[in-house]
Amino acid sequence: MKTIVSGIQPTGELNIGTYLGSIRNFVALQKSHPDHHFFLFIADTHALTVPQDPVQLRKAIKSLAAMYVACGINLEQTSLFVQSEITAHQEMDVLLQSFAYMGELERMTQYKDKAQKQTEGIRASLFTYPVLMAGDILLYDAEYVPVGDDQKQHLELTRTIAERVNHQVGDFFTVPKPLIPELTARVMSLQNPDQKMSKSDPNVKSKILLTDSEAIIKKRIRSAVTDSDGIIEYNPASKKGLSNLIQIYAALEETTPEQVVETFKEANYQTFKEALGEIIATHLAPIQARYERLMNSNELTEILDRGKADAETLAIKKVQRFKKKLGLGFKR
Ligand code: TYM
Repeated sequence: MKTIVSGIQPTGELNIGTYLGSIRNFVALQKSHPDHHFFLFIADTHALTVPQDPVQLRKAIKSLAAMYVACGINLEQTSLFVQSEITAHQEMDVLLQSFAYMGELERMTQYKDKAQKQTEGIRASLFTYPVLMAGDILLYDAEYVPVGDDQKQHLELTRTIAERVNHQVGDFFTVPKPLIPELTARVMSLQNPDQKMSKSDPNVKSKILLTDSEAIIKKRIRSAVTDSDGIIEYNPASKKGLSNLIQIYAALEETTPEQVVETFKEANYQTFKEALGEIIATHLAPIQARYERLMNSNELTEILDRGKADAETLAIKKVQRFKKKLGLGFKR
């Protein structure tokens, strides 16, 4: 079985950056790769790398599960599950700790950035996080891993770990390839186009949540930071704010930035922003309706139980075989 694996942390509400960098890509890939099975999960163990309120975390897990489904993943082709419910993820993490080097983990930019912002109480799990992530992927022998640009370095480490294991124990893991969307690899903050749009950004104006109302969406786009020259041009280097909006427009309309510029070349920023706000709201409306329905039904329990059962069967076998390869244990 050919597999594609990806996960999202249940930390804060999903925004349009995560959507365009990941879930939307999963849905598209399911159509272009009908012979692949998808293991998609809620990376709740990863969330513990920073402090969490247990009540909020539980809510975020349910909400993320509902969003996966509401955004249109094909459940026939997917095992959707909660990472912590399959303990093989934790086991694989522990085993792979012996195949990652301190220096490699120290070089991870995401760790360096987060550790820099927080001088005290940096959790050991924040440091070893990429190993858990490698385990998530290698457990299912993923051929591809669709992620946004910020996860690229973690994917490279996953490949290094897989190759190291394969070198030591013989061909054991599939070495996964990242799949990074061309246009929306890094959707930027609406308030600071030098930073990515982030779930953890406390500034509500920096992002559009998938649950935002039409009025809020339009307001956020209207107040998005652009520039003062007033010319609709696509240039991610010199016109970061506007180019970010053009990319979002192009991605949602399945067109190119050049085509968007062509359409709006005579318009001012305000007209373009109104059109973009409208497009986002129209795109999100059916997702929001499905989300509401799922949050108020029992459907998710059945979906997540089935996903867990399917994924766990594979994951347990892989861990057992790995332990044996490493010479662990006595009887098996
Ligand atoms: P997370 O939860 O931070 O983000 C989920 C996915 O969304 C992408 N993303 C973005 N893409 C474009 N623009 C943005 N502004 C943006 N913000 C987020 C991320 O790149 C990611 O693909 N470590 C992962 C979760 C994870 C995982 C895995 C992913 C755990 N195990 C195994 C793949 C495979 C994370 O924290 O993603």
